[in-house]
Amino acid sequence: MNGTATLESVEYKHIQVRPIAGTMGAEIFGVDLAKLNDEVYDEFYNAWLRHQVVVLRDQDITPDQQVDFAMRLGGIHFHPYMNGMDNHPEILEIIKEPGDKYTFGSTWHTDQMFNPQPAKATMLYAKESPSTGGDTLFANMHDAYDALSDGMKTMLADVKTWCVGDKFRRSGGSRRKDRYQGNLKMAAKVRDAGNLQTESAHPLYRTHPETGRMALYLGNHVQTLEGFNDAEAEPILDFLREHAIRPEFTCRVNWKPGTITLWDNRSVQHHAIADYSERRRMHRITIAGDTPF
Ligand code: OGA
Ligand code: MN
Repeated sequence: MNGTATLESVEYKHIQVRPIAGTMGAEIFGVDLAKLNDEVYDEFYNAWLRHQVVVLRDQDITPDQQVDFAMRLGGIHFHPYMNGMDNHPEILEIIKEPGDKYTFGSTWHTDQMFNPQPAKATMLYAKESPSTGGDTLFANMHDAYDALSDGMKTMLADVKTWCVGDKFRRSGGSRRKDRYQGNLKMAAKVRDAGNLQTESAHPLYRTHPETGRMALYLGNHVQTLEGFNDAEAEPILDFLREHAIRPEFTCRVNWKPGTITLWDNRSVQHHAIADYSERRRMHRITIAGDTPF
């Protein structure tokens, strides 16, 4: 188990925790988000910090209750250019219809890493799921960091990555966020200006602000390493990307309607698996985070 000493020693009175893989991830029993008291919440939060990816089954909550839970976890991180649901701008509805080619999140990444204050956590709530397939993979960036040699740790100790969220030019030169321009003005009313940024520098090795553990901070938004030539940065990044997702650093979550997974974007990469063609519909809230250090 990978918790810090303090987290290790906790005994739970209200919840039960069943790890789902050697590296991280756990199913948590005994939590009903429709009626969550402070004692259960505290144990849940502790288990989440310790296990990084936690799964709750058979939850039945309204959008308002999901937003309330997100507020408790740290507030809402609004996406700079994707729009929320009509009456709940905090919630992104992620829908894949039968026949859709594009699968949201189907690369290794950590959410909104292009932002100066990326999402601390992501809460994904399955409303409809395929009968098989459509799982999500997670990789543990604490274990990935720990497994690097002292040489790699030292060489890249103070290096920053350059991260871009809107790098995909479409035909005619437009960018992804152009599609959402019509709604950006409305959306900006509920977002602070910093949240609208889509390019940022971040430490390659970051410190988890709550547990103090070091993590490799990597994801698909990373374009290069600051202060390096591309010819130097690319092989280093290729190595790190490959290293970060070694099978022994991963766990995998299967979804059923009612499943809620909360993952820690400060210490985890994730990847949606595009192996299904039935309808899949999720309610997603990202939780506001701090400036990485
Ligand atoms: C996300 C994401 C993965 C999935 O919501 O940020 O990457 O499996 N989702 O839907
Ligand atoms: Mn994601």
